[in-house]
Amino acid sequence: MPLNTAATRVAPWEIEGQLALCRDIAARFAAAGLHPRAFVDTYGCQQNEADSERLRGYLREMGYGFTRSEEEADLILINTCAIRQHAEQRVLGNVGALVHTKRRHPGQIICLCGCSMQQEHMARRIRDSYRHVDLVFGTHALWRFPALLDQVLREKKRVFSTQDSAGSIAEGIPVVRQDGVKAWVSVMYGCNNFCSYCIVPYVRGRERSRLPEDILAEVAQLAEQGYKDITLLGQNVNSYGRDLGLSLDFAGLLEQLCAIPGDFRLRFMTSHPKDAGQRLFETMARCGKIAPHLHLPVQSGSDRVLSAMNRGYTRAAYLEKVAALRALIPDIVLTSDIIVGFPGETGAEFEDTLSLIREVEYDALFTFLYSPRSGTPAARLDDPVPKEEKQARFQRLVDVQNEISARKHAAYVGSVQQALIDGVTGDPAHNLSARTPGGRLIHLSGDPALVGRVCPVRIESASTWALFGSLE
Ligand code: SAH
Ligand code: SF4
Ligand code: F3S
Repeated sequence: MPLNTAATRVAPWEIEGQLALCRDIAARFAAAGLHPRAFVDTYGCQQNEADSERLRGYLREMGYGFTRSEEEADLILINTCAIRQHAEQRVLGNVGALVHTKRRHPGQIICLCGCSMQQEHMARRIRDSYRHVDLVFGTHALWRFPALLDQVLREKKRVFSTQDSAGSIAEGIPVVRQDGVKAWVSVMYGCNNFCSYCIVPYVRGRERSRLPEDILAEVAQLAEQGYKDITLLGQNVNSYGRDLGLSLDFAGLLEQLCAIPGDFRLRFMTSHPKDAGQRLFETMARCGKIAPHLHLPVQSGSDRVLSAMNRGYTRAAYLEKVAALRALIPDIVLTSDIIVGFPGETGAEFEDTLSLIREVEYDALFTFLYSPRSGTPAARLDDPVPKEEKQARFQRLVDVQNEISARKHAAYVGSVQQALIDGVTGDPAHNLSARTPGGRLIHLSGDPALVGRVCPVRIESASTWALFGSLE
């Protein structure tokens, strides 16, 4: 049953109201002769980066300039992540240290938002133990940031807004993008998959898709502005459109986006293996604008563990998909995520993961040690494997992958890549960075004016992590 899409969309007049408040706040700063500055710090995934670009958009409308210095900032906004304990701990450490910054900068406003703050126990902890924090809001309240901040500014009191919600979609929030070459575009929000280890469905709400016309308009505008590398974002982009009741799926959306004129490349993440299939692969093979890269997180090579993770596919089904994709696009760059040490993972089950890695030969892997997240089913499972054993497995996995990555990178040596020059590095030996069509990193030297251009680059050497080359 398609959801009632109207119910999941914030009414345009509500966003207008927030923008009117922004103008009000900007006028108050101007009348007082103030030029406030904000520091926005982002943890977590690209979805959080994209959210921070909207928070910056709101801040700009409120008259804030930006700084990278906590000392200089009149407002510090930290967009948090809850995916692993380590990420949460780091945020808490940094927030704790801000007590001193604020003492040196009386009147400084400290705000926390994002996935970690959507959890009741974390918001409570901030309320009770981090009394220098002025504003806390979860992911569902992002679109109301101006109203929340206005309350802090006017009433000089602490504000907490962490109500849970299935989630909504807010169009029309202004954006300040961090990069002039690469851009993020969310196509959907939330997740319905409830992998047993994962906190995301609890802090981001249910899957909801943006309307195709809104996505098409945003991508067309980015292409017109000269963006060269556009990444479509969603926790599982392959379920795009299911809630809309239209006959458009993600492959269909990609097809329409590729028809937008302009010299840009499209990427997307993340694809859940249970939902990625032939239609997507054929679309990738057919559309020249889609980057030859697929991030297809497998998490484990053991069927028992995959089932305990509630992933919805088997090792064999996953491998079949990889084979089908490679049959269509032989030089596809494949990357993946692996969790080591899921509760009860045996030595033999870990070996299954290693053998899958050897069989697939990913170009690169993102490897994680399992971290229990409170409220998820996996956190209640027995976890008898000692930490040292998990650490040793993790190291073995990294070693196996490093050898594969180094071999894959070495195969580029001598080739010429149509590379997008995407940044200036500050490293005198290789002052520019670039990306192959499949997204592998190249270090090279050249004129910084080339940033944003696609140039032929000859690959001269390679390491585990990157390629090194020079302009042809
Ligand atoms: N939606 C994406 C993943 C988002 S989280 C997907 O389904 O692929 C990014 C990665 O973090 C996951 O792929 C997983 O490998 C890892 N991860 C998520 N929860 C974790 C946990 N509790 N402990 C360790 N790693 C975790
Ligand atoms: Fe988490 Fe699974 Fe959803 Fe990815 S698909 S966000 S791992 S629950
Ligand atoms: Fe972290 Fe939230 Fe992303 S938990 S990984 S920032 S969706």
